[in-house]
Amino acid sequence: MNAIDYLRISLIDRCNFQCQYCMPEGADLTYALQQDWLTRAELRALLQQVFIPVGFTRFRLTGGEPLLRPDVVEIVADIANLPETQDLAMTTNAFLLAKKATALWQAGLRRLNISLDSLDPDTFQSIVGGRGKSRWYDVWEGIQAAHQIGFTPLKLNVVVIPGVNDGEILDLAALTLEREWHVRFIEFMPIGNGDLFDDRGWLPSETLRQQIRDRWGLAAGTVRGNGPADVFQIPGAKGTLGFISQMSECFCDRCNRMRLSADGWLRPCLLNETGQINLREQLRSGVSMADLRAQVAKLVDAKPEVNFKMRESGTTGAYSRTMSQIGG
Ligand code: GTP
Ligand code: 5AD
Ligand code: SF4
Repeated sequence: MNAIDYLRISLIDRCNFQCQYCMPEGADLTYALQQDWLTRAELRALLQQVFIPVGFTRFRLTGGEPLLRPDVVEIVADIANLPETQDLAMTTNAFLLAKKATALWQAGLRRLNISLDSLDPDTFQSIVGGRGKSRWYDVWEGIQAAHQIGFTPLKLNVVVIPGVNDGEILDLAALTLEREWHVRFIEFMPIGNGDLFDDRGWLPSETLRQQIRDRWGLAAGTVRGNGPADVFQIPGAKGTLGFISQMSECFCDRCNRMRLSADGWLRPCLLNETGQINLREQLRSGVSMADLRAQVAKLVDAKPEVNFKMRESGTTGAYSRTMSQIGG
């Protein structure tokens, strides 16, 4: 069994986007009350006294949209300053990034994964929602700011939806030719918007790789990361191409992570709601750190070696929380 040493920490379950694949229109999303968010002090205490002693050393901040959390910069600084932290990263939609990138860098953040599902501002807006000027421009400005400041590796996540953005695979892949950017194509999963999934289906990573191979050729590649991406590279390109293939290939046997929700639920598996424990409630009702540590250690030991069959798992109804609430 793999070491479980990577914790994805959701800082907030709200998002300023409403991506089609994540939050369908009219979805009944109930958010955690702000008073139920783990506070900065609680998070720091849980990391120092529970997660680090149990063996977690790699942390990723997620949302919803983590940049909506008012104290995000302070939380980054807290985690970056822990001597045991071996890796700290953030997954963001980058809408607010241009404004916050410098402060995040100064707080000690060094790498970012950014969602960028399209290079076309209109297609982008149709995916993420919103009226008026396309939000693509703000996101692109955020990506440029991150690039200029020196965040590295800088990864761009693309959820591939047939009929929506699958005509842009080569254009998106071409971003890696001249820039040290790492574009990752994610197979669309039946989480969040089951209707869209049933309607559009998904494309296997191998189909995308074949398109890229036919155009430029494709070799093995490497990039720093803790996630499930298979990494390739166009020969001579500065960046890499990653493929996250949870539909065509089960990577549960490589799983190294747990997820902590904004309201303090520790979730052993993205796709499986069994075994969750609520750390916030226990912390606030006076359960000792030693007790919580024992519970988390037990959960790590018991982490089911599931081979979750995503393709057979059905759609949204199987999950009571969307990706934005879990943090991807
Ligand atoms: P790196 O450390 O940079 O490799 O990060 P990562 O790929 O783990 O992080 P990111 O937040 O960019 O995740 C990309 C996407 O991979 C997520 O949004 C999910 O779609 C998918 N993903 C991440 N972890 C899991 C997992 O445990 N199971 C499944 N099925 N998908 C996952
Ligand atoms: N399928 C695949 N990835 C998804 N994400 C959200 N919903 C889905 C889905 N249905 C991913 C996106 C986003 C992150 C928060 O979660 O990559 O960047
Ligand atoms: Fe889009 Fe991420 Fe927000 Fe979901 S959480 S709506 S995927 S930006």
